[in-house]
Amino acid sequence: VTAVAPDTAAVTRERLYRMMRVYKETSLLRTGVRLGVFDALAAGPAGADEVAARVGADPRGTRLLLNALAALRLVRADGDRYALADGAAELLVTGSPAYYGGMVDVVASDYEWDALRDLEGAVRRGGSVADQDAETPGYAYWETFARSVGPVTVPTANLLTDLLAGSVPDRPLKVLDLAAGHGIYGFTVAERFPGSTVTCVDWPNVLDITTTHARRRGLADRVSTVPGDMFTADLGGPYDVVLVTNVVHHFSEERSTELLARAAGALAPGGRVGVVGFVAGDEGPELDPEPHLFSILMLVWTSAGEVHTEAAYRRMTAGAGLEIEASRQVPGLPFHVLTARRAG
Ligand SMILES: C[S@@+](CC[C@H](N)C(=O)[O-])C[C@H]1O[C@@H](n2cnc3c(N)ncnc32)[C@H](O)[C@@H]1O
Repeated sequence: VTAVAPDTAAVTRERLYRMMRVYKETSLLRTGVRLGVFDALAAGPAGADEVAARVGADPRGTRLLLNALAALRLVRADGDRYALADGAAELLVTGSPAYYGGMVDVVASDYEWDALRDLEGAVRRGGSVADQDAETPGYAYWETFARSVGPVTVPTANLLTDLLAGSVPDRPLKVLDLAAGHGIYGFTVAERFPGSTVTCVDWPNVLDITTTHARRRGLADRVSTVPGDMFTADLGGPYDVVLVTNVVHHFSEERSTELLARAAGALAPGGRVGVVGFVAGDEGPELDPEPHLFSILMLVWTSAGEVHTEAAYRRMTAGAGLEIEASRQVPGLPFHVLTARRAG
């Protein structure tokens, strides 16, 4: 993630024009992925008619799309034949271990775009004006998120598990995963500590996907679910590890403190809370743009969420009766991973 370089920071027509039209690039990438254009070129170069037949689309539409994707350097145009650009086979062809194309259904989704369409309304109100948003129980977006995002969380889940491994005993653990989504965080801990059990809390529509993932990983008999609101559901326990990953930014500082206090309350003696959070550093928006851009999604999509600062994380954990034990930045990403124990 890079800030706008100082020598390009002046407001120019070129920069404004790029900002005005960049959503067209988003649409092109999303369309290429959804139509399966990159898969259609995986076996080798092909003409537009051939690609059109493979993806079941109109030849003229496909030719214009392929030329535009070549303009964006996602494919290469050589006369009237097209081939994958460097890196596309790895990142945009389904079935590749590093496949990243599925993220278009999240980051370039209609859900996010529709929410952002009325940013002006959200700014006027100071929160979401949408009929349905990230806080709506059973929101369908979270199903897509749970299906699509799992693989990209693996390095962060490994880092959190490494941190936890430094403080919890090396034996089967009881793990609670609040707002579990795809379930990767809890499953990663369970696999590192064989024999562990994981209780996943989320809305019922999302938990259907969580349990499918558990089954695929051979964890079905060690994963149970608590469908419902993590702020009010009976969490059971106590647990050796309670996970709160990527949800603190959905709520105000006060509400997140309440959530962390619930996590602290579910801990067994000697247990640890593991948190993954999007954190805004002290550098300010010009040098650290991502958290401030992401907070806009929280503005349009939640009543009071935003990316909290490091100082706010310290206040929230302390307010929840927790003491931060270890904290690391995820390499290359504006996420922090931290472990905490009950204070005192
Ligand atoms: C950003 S995802 C995080 C998923 C996963 N923990 C991760 O780190 O990728 C947020 C998840 O929180 C769930 N969620 C939001 N509010 C909730 C609530 N009040 N009770 C239970 N789950 C909730 C959503 O359904 C969604 O699966």
